[in-house]
Amino acid sequence: MFKTRIPLAQLLLVSVLTGIAIAQASPSNSSPKSTPNVQNVSVSPLFIGVAWYPEQWPEERWEKDLALMQAAGITMVRVGEFAWSRMEPAEGKFDLDWLDRAIKMAAARNIKVVVGTPTAAPPAWLTKKYPEVLPTWEDGRRATHGNRGHYRFTSERYLQLCRRVAEEMAKRFGHNPNVIGWQIDNEYGPVSYDDETKVRFQAFLRQKYQTLDRLNGAWTTYYWSQTYDSWDEIPIPVGYHNPGLMLEWKRFISVTFRDYQHNQISAIRASSDPRQFITHNFMGFYPGFDHYTVAAELDFASWDSYVGQGQLDYMWNAQTHDLTRGFKRRNFWIMETQPGSVNWAGINNTLDRGEMRKLAWQAIGHGADTVSYWQWRSALGGQEQYHGSLVGADGNPRPVYEEISQIAREVAKAASALKDTTPAPETAVLFDYDSRWAVDFQKHNRNFDPIGYLSSIYRPLRELTQDVDIVHPSAPLDKYKLVVAPALNLMPRERAEHLAAYVRGGGHLVLGVRSGMKDENNALLPSRQPGTILSELLGGDVVDFYALDKDFSVTGKVGSGQVKNWAEMLEAKQPGVDVVLKFGTSNGWLDDKPAVITRKVGKGSITYIGAWLDEKLTRDVLASEVSGSGVKQILPGLPSGVEVSRRVSTDGKTVLIVINHTRQQQQVTLPRPMRSLLDGQQKSSLDLPPSEVVVLASE
Ligand code: GLA
Repeated sequence: MFKTRIPLAQLLLVSVLTGIAIAQASPSNSSPKSTPNVQNVSVSPLFIGVAWYPEQWPEERWEKDLALMQAAGITMVRVGEFAWSRMEPAEGKFDLDWLDRAIKMAAARNIKVVVGTPTAAPPAWLTKKYPEVLPTWEDGRRATHGNRGHYRFTSERYLQLCRRVAEEMAKRFGHNPNVIGWQIDNEYGPVSYDDETKVRFQAFLRQKYQTLDRLNGAWTTYYWSQTYDSWDEIPIPVGYHNPGLMLEWKRFISVTFRDYQHNQISAIRASSDPRQFITHNFMGFYPGFDHYTVAAELDFASWDSYVGQGQLDYMWNAQTHDLTRGFKRRNFWIMETQPGSVNWAGINNTLDRGEMRKLAWQAIGHGADTVSYWQWRSALGGQEQYHGSLVGADGNPRPVYEEISQIAREVAKAASALKDTTPAPETAVLFDYDSRWAVDFQKHNRNFDPIGYLSSIYRPLRELTQDVDIVHPSAPLDKYKLVVAPALNLMPRERAEHLAAYVRGGGHLVLGVRSGMKDENNALLPSRQPGTILSELLGGDVVDFYALDKDFSVTGKVGSGQVKNWAEMLEAKQPGVDVVLKFGTSNGWLDDKPAVITRKVGKGSITYIGAWLDEKLTRDVLASEVSGSGVKQILPGLPSGVEVSRRVSTDGKTVLIVINHTRQQQQVTLPRPMRSLLDGQQKSSLDLPPSEVVVLASE
């Protein structure tokens, strides 16, 4: 990681003269290893918060707003993330007094403050004086002032200006007792395709590959005469390109956002109390960069959880919470969620009454230590006048204010029981951006969405185990009884050895389709899937793969059903391989061939699911794996559509959050009496009306 930015010319010189191999910058090697296996702890007390923009309102209004927030039980505000033109109205002239006053007013009402750096929205004087900071979009158009995200993340000038405003803010608020933390920028995303970025990308490749021979070899550039004779011939890939080049471009974006963020983190750390955390608000499964890489230096991850159009898809939110928790393998924050509705969906319907409450408590159950709403009040002008908010244009509470007040009151009741607790699953799903991108680059079946395939595994697995981590494949796996890897397409040797060691250590590994196909440069491994090391353990391998334009049948000891989108012909080659499912009549190639095979390895096992199974069959195969792995349910016999999440502390506290996501009354029997934190009653069973939430603590 570049601790300080090296000027471009020096960067090129360094890589030519010294030829040093900079530590692998690729995210697949800069993943959670940099984060020790944190003993699961909370990241902060529980807050219910709002995004507040004091700069958009007359100062006389602030007291009224803060009083309404306090009355609603709001305990945290996030401020500043778009206020650059107010903080630095002219180059080098900072005015932070107003923000100081707003922070003091919030403190007087016991409302803590998270300060956002304003670098997602450069002011007009900046882009006018330094037009070189404006990005060039993928279609070649140059960005102009007036929106947001209109900056070049590779611009030295921009980095200097970002560092300076962060420094000024940290000097002013880094020791302010009411400032509990920082958010860097806002929702990283926009990427520039300008010439300087291309030169930096070429330098990045040179540092990684050192010689063109190595790069040409890794990417097989004799293919279509792509061979590169000099580094400056290498393009930024726009559209369909060499898979090695496409993957490295994504890796370059990842490390560039990481360094862009580090530029501000280092400025803040230099002038702030260690107690002040630093986070960033990610966007769930956003594909633009490797979130493990960008989250590595943060204290914890946050994400902006919006439903948009329609209703809460609780399994989608569950997997996205578990993904975000997995970036740092610790609790996270919901930095933004909708107070009723958004303004950017096709139809911006308001969530049904009670859905915000379910969304908030589900997030907490999955390890959120804050739920914060975007936004407090819509500015009278600007692009988001219709967005949901707690307070209306007249300055008075809107109907959703009451439901959010109820959530805040409930969280306050449960806060002490929840303190220092976090989910601690025995099951993990492996997810890495390199594999996701590799499949996305060459879907081979336009219906093969790697996240859709992950969801097809996660949903039944979450119902079966009631508790799932989503982690990077290089994360420590020894605490899991069951590990499932959907489409783990890249299988560098180190990763295969890590998974093999897990199985040999008694773990139960399940590989999904398209696993073990590529090396770390997104080139085909010169072997059959899932690669030599794991095939040896499996006692079999993948003979060939098939994109499906029609469904085929499969049958076996766990049941019968259909497969869609993708199928692989498996071959059992060693003794001890158990054929779990076989194809029926298909395309002739797959007829009667193994579709799912499994093999015991000592106390562990390894299973390969060689087809995208239908929902019921996926569940049946996973049920067999869950049973074989010894993973126990939290609440056996839970009705479908009723979700339980568990948070535990290192000193034995247990909190269960049970939510009825169905529209029917549901009954739940508890294995032992527990105290209901929201109504104080002792309960041995639950009678749950639709959308009911119950929070239980172990005695
Ligand atoms: C994003 C941004 C916010 C706001 C919301 C609206 O999450 O971070 O500034 O625009 O969307 O839903």
